[in-house]
Amino acid sequence: MKHFPYKKTRMAVENIDLTDLSKSVGTPFYCYSLNSLEESFHKIDESCKSTNLLICYSIKANSNQSIIKTFSNLGCGADVVSLGELKRAIKENIPGNKIVFSGVGKNTNEINYALENDILLFNVESLDELQHLSSLAKNHGKVAPVAIRINPDISAGENEKISTGKSQDKFGISWKDAIEVYNIASSLEGIEIKGIDIHIGSQINELEPFSRSFDCISEIIKELKSKDFDIDIIDIGGGIGVDYKEKGKNLEIEKYFDLVSKKLGDLAKTIIVEPGRFLTAHSAVLVTEIIYIKKSSSRNFVIVDAAMNDFIRPSFYGAYHRIVPLVDNEQDEEGEEYDVVGPVCETGDFFVKDLHLKNPQKGDLLAILSVGAYGSVLSSNYNSRPTIPEVLVKDNQWEIIRKRIEVDEIIKRDIIPDWL
Ligand SMILES: Cc1ncc(COP(=O)(O)O)c(C=O)c1O
Repeated sequence: MKHFPYKKTRMAVENIDLTDLSKSVGTPFYCYSLNSLEESFHKIDESCKSTNLLICYSIKANSNQSIIKTFSNLGCGADVVSLGELKRAIKENIPGNKIVFSGVGKNTNEINYALENDILLFNVESLDELQHLSSLAKNHGKVAPVAIRINPDISAGENEKISTGKSQDKFGISWKDAIEVYNIASSLEGIEIKGIDIHIGSQINELEPFSRSFDCISEIIKELKSKDFDIDIIDIGGGIGVDYKEKGKNLEIEKYFDLVSKKLGDLAKTIIVEPGRFLTAHSAVLVTEIIYIKKSSSRNFVIVDAAMNDFIRPSFYGAYHRIVPLVDNEQDEEGEEYDVVGPVCETGDFFVKDLHLKNPQKGDLLAILSVGAYGSVLSSNYNSRPTIPEVLVKDNQWEIIRKRIEVDEIIKRDIIPDWL
């Protein structure tokens, strides 16, 4: 989180004091550092020595237009999973030939729109989808460029909910059926086989599952090549883990790309990587204000104005995020443990348990760290709470990149039938 430094006792984002910014924006809010986003992109770009790498930002991690534009400006492609994400990518000038479409349930509208925009690759996940795609492509007088997503039956990722490569998961086509499916694909008029795809999960911090999955697809590629299939593209998905605890225990990105080069580098003209979390996680904090302090015989609570509807990762995945005060009271040495919780009526509405805080007070500001990935995109209006704003900072300038959606606006979306 080097772009969120303490200047003396006060936390900043780049060159802007976060406490001052909070007064202008109002809490709670997400705050992003542009330099951090760009730096994470360059880290991947520079770690990969092979020149045939295409970085396709996985938009699901954070779909704010300003974030997409940041990566588009750097020449990045996009990995999309819906019509909405596809439209967002195109709006920020990511060219069709740098867009890959993933997901198990692409519908007719989505496929048609992707065909009209001549995207680079459809990552196909079932025989049914393959046949549907073929017939839609024929209607357009086109052939759809396709990679088959392989399910290697490998467990990986932070927890069950974000592991995608086991045989019981809904994703991909079993490695055992791969050759048969490629044979069928080659017989379909509307399909052009371009490559192979794999994505085994998210927040993966060991090389071993990646290594096994690369071995799995490399075997399949070799067999396909021996049968004269053209495999020009290998899409290795996302999943690169980040260090939420900031203890240096995350995947070393250089080692990851050494592995990619060693195992797959010679097997295709283009390698696509689809990072989401790695590009955005550390680029943001969520600033929240302490509303109440509550002490009971068994626990202490700090009740803040943000809640699980604004940032659900701790409640939903049991994910750990560091929380720090915006102003560090160095003079108060003693402290106590507090659970940091939100106002939503769920016991699961917490951000962290047993956080050591030095004499927290009503009105103090806290920053929840590393919330740039799977943060704002997973927010909701549960408990009829407003959508909180997002701010982007570059050096000493800032802008609101998503405005607060007030409760009155949310209520107005509902329709009461005449007969009620
Ligand atoms: C197909 C696919 N690609 C890429 C990603 C991005 O993963 P991550 O954010 O872990 O890099 C995901 C996330 O689940 C995914 O499903």
